[in-house]
Amino acid sequence: QTIHEFQNSLLSWYEHNKRDLPWRQDQDPYKVWVSEIMLQQTKVDTVIPYFHHFMTQFPTPEDLAYADEEQVMKAWEGLGYYSRVRNLQTAVKEVVEEYGGKVPEERTSFSSLKGVGPYTAGAVLSIAYEKPEPAVDGNVMRVFSRIFNISDDIGKAKTRKRFESLVAPFLEDTEPSRFNQAVMELGALVCTPKSPGCLLCPVQEFCEARKAGTAEDLPVKPKK
Ligand code: ADE
Repeated sequence: QTIHEFQNSLLSWYEHNKRDLPWRQDQDPYKVWVSEIMLQQTKVDTVIPYFHHFMTQFPTPEDLAYADEEQVMKAWEGLGYYSRVRNLQTAVKEVVEEYGGKVPEERTSFSSLKGVGPYTAGAVLSIAYEKPEPAVDGNVMRVFSRIFNISDDIGKAKTRKRFESLVAPFLEDTEPSRFNQAVMELGALVCTPKSPGCLLCPVQEFCEARKAGTAEDLPVKPKK
């Protein structure tokens, strides 16, 4: 019941406030995958022009699989973390050769591809295929650490697994694509690292950290 109300409040906020981002135009799994890899260590505003250019140059998995490595590196120039794109091309080649060019719909198959971790798998499977898969990255852990007032160290793999279990029930009886992206959007626009916008938050009434006054102290990050 509470989960249902939470979903309704969050999703109606999302419909009114979501940014019009190029990878939200359709649910093409290849496009969603490329966008998620680009967004891993790079901000949305930086990614947008690179995403457009990349999709013009390599519109399908086949185009990327058979492209010159040099050309691919060139298209990534400026984004940094070049192992991301090397792994992506390797993985896309495997999709073309082993899966007939269709991005796998199963977490186990998709996760076995180069560079596809638990977050990327959850994001692509939920956004492109509407699978009820959690997509838990740092932003999502920030949001849910506040909702549940959890002070576990988010640098630990065990903590991410705990959040995946906590998020899973929220993906039932809803569109997983919209729900996961709504959480990402809340983390980007309202539930920000510093001075979170609790007064504007569509789920403030469900937030344990807000009640406890601990929102600004969460999430707990690994000691450096
Ligand atoms: N960050 C990671 N994935 C994202 C997405 N699909 N939309 C916006 N920001 C994101």
